[in-house]
Amino acid sequence: QATAKPVTYGASDRPPRGDYSLARADYTCEQPWEDYTADEHDRYARLFARQMAHVQDRACDEFVVALSHLGDAQGIPRFADINIVLRQATGWELVAVPGLIPEREFFTLLANRRFPVTYWLRSEAEFDYIVEPDLFHDLFGHVPLLFNPVFADYMQAFGSGGLKAESLHALEFLSRLYWYTVEFGLMHTSRGLRVYGAGILSSVGELDYCLTSPEPNRVAFDALRLMRTRYKIDTYQETYFVIEGFGELFDATAPDFTPLYTALRDLPELGAGDVLADEKTYPPNRV
Ligand code: PHE
Ligand code: FE
Repeated sequence: QATAKPVTYGASDRPPRGDYSLARADYTCEQPWEDYTADEHDRYARLFARQMAHVQDRACDEFVVALSHLGDAQGIPRFADINIVLRQATGWELVAVPGLIPEREFFTLLANRRFPVTYWLRSEAEFDYIVEPDLFHDLFGHVPLLFNPVFADYMQAFGSGGLKAESLHALEFLSRLYWYTVEFGLMHTSRGLRVYGAGILSSVGELDYCLTSPEPNRVAFDALRLMRTRYKIDTYQETYFVIEGFGELFDATAPDFTPLYTALRDLPELGAGDVLADEKTYPPNRV
């Protein structure tokens, strides 16, 4: 007990939102479900209803079909209830955490098919936008795709890959892969571009922007190219990487990254908005 130290997002001048004294040494805690107020349940229901309508025809089919597993959305679900169906679907389970956790603990949970979900919900003032991940982002954005067998395996591989990258001092590169796939990934489908990245799926504005704006680059997924690319955490992305399906993502990231990390150390970094001369890009969806 009391071994879990608070982790803050970006500038560390703000106090943590969650209570880290509730967390075990692995940073997990009980979901304090009885403590949610009526306002919080109502806010969650409104966030869910709005975003549920917004992801139709914008999120990939795999995401949309799995949304129903999050419960009736009348209020904040109990993670234990979701776990009954999730364990059966892909062997994953949700665990509550007080907020951001250190990389090693995060990757260790993923490698064991346990997904950390922040237990606290954003305030009313943050209804449209919140910088750090809260319960709504973690649950609505990330959990549906854990029901997809291929994506579920990708997330577990990411956990083991993260522990390996840490030992190779290559986390800077692997963080970019997480950012540009798990958080901000796009998929090309027979009906145009669709979103699978959780950072977009839990946001209202970026769902439209990433699919239809002429501004950002939409570059075909390439692990080496991607891991050279810096990213912005406080604006819409300047570049999105596009996969043709989760099979491609899983297969392209399965090989040993050790030689890739070695190559990356000698390659120049790319800015968040750079496009290379010869690479494949995708046009925005027509509106
Ligand atoms: N194949 C990667 C490695 O050897 C691990 C990994 C898998 C990373 C899937 C991310 C996603 O390091
Ligand atoms: Fe996230």
